[in-house]
Amino acid sequence: MADKKLTVAEILAAARKADTQGSGAPTAKEEASSPSEPSAPPSGESAEAAPAAPSAPAKGTPPKKAAAGGGRPSVAEMLAMARAGKQGGEAAEAPVAKPAAKPAVPAAKAASPAKKEAAAAKSAPIDTQSILSAARKGTKPGPMTKAEAEAKAATAVGDAAKKAKAKEAIVVPPMPVKPGYAKPGTAKAGKEQVGERRAFLFGMSALAVGFTALSASFAAWTFASIRFMFPNILREPPSRFSVGTPDKFPAGQVEERFKAQFGVWIVNTEYNGQQQIVALRTVCTHLGCTPNWLEAEQKFKCPCHGSGFYKDGINFEGPAPRPLERYAIQFASDGSIEVDKSRMFQEEMGQWNDPACYIPV
Ligand code: FES
Repeated sequence: MADKKLTVAEILAAARKADTQGSGAPTAKEEASSPSEPSAPPSGESAEAAPAAPSAPAKGTPPKKAAAGGGRPSVAEMLAMARAGKQGGEAAEAPVAKPAAKPAVPAAKAASPAKKEAAAAKSAPIDTQSILSAARKGTKPGPMTKAEAEAKAATAVGDAAKKAKAKEAIVVPPMPVKPGYAKPGTAKAGKEQVGERRAFLFGMSALAVGFTALSASFAAWTFASIRFMFPNILREPPSRFSVGTPDKFPAGQVEERFKAQFGVWIVNTEYNGQQQIVALRTVCTHLGCTPNWLEAEQKFKCPCHGSGFYKDGINFEGPAPRPLERYAIQFASDGSIEVDKSRMFQEEMGQWNDPACYIPV
């Protein structure tokens, strides 16, 4: 019997009964309800529970509190107990039926605040502001209280106001005034002026080019006229020149110092059994090349076609048809040897016998 859980109706009934017993004479209402009490016994258990209620103060905690108050638990206390029993399950049975369930009561009491907080969190209002702000951030709307949402909204409004103020602070400078030539009315006139100026410059440039060309042609004509006044002159060394005293030309020697400047070899050689100093012309009698003196071979050799000449100028090899030519040679007033290129002597014509073309040593 004591293990069975009492319903709220049974507990209420027991409480009313206890109230009536505690207060003495029952009221008319209680009397009216008393006939129903006999009907409780048929339930059997409730009848037993009713007498157990008075004895409850000795077993459960609430009765102790009531005893501390100096009487049986009131209806409010009983209801609170019933509600606690409903929420706490077994914890509610403890004060009524099981004395052994005594320690479970504080646990149930400790658990109930946590559940209450969870329930309060679940039932906390999620307002539209919090949902919208969370959606803007890309996150799920969290459990935001209305106060938090209002604070956020206030912050957003403050930022928007700041931005608007910053926008208002931007001052746009005025447009610069256009100069006269940039005005639409004077643009055409300006273009015409530019065109006229370009035409003028082009005309001046053409005139300058023309005058420059005319001046250049006149200068060229003047130079040609002046040059015409002076005939072409071949600058040659003098035909007469001194080569030094006879002692500078020992027997058998070919002096080449005057070859480059005067085209003459001064040779001390023997011709027809007589030792002579002669001036040989450095021109090959074949086609006019300049032969070279080969000291090792003691001959003049023409590089063009290979004509060879002895030291006295007689040809002996190659295509050269005749001996080399001699220039006139004589003693000057100072005793030196003077060569005269204006006169030439040819051996094949018997001219080498002329004393004018040699100096006997
Ligand atoms: Fe000297 Fe011909 S020119 S050999």
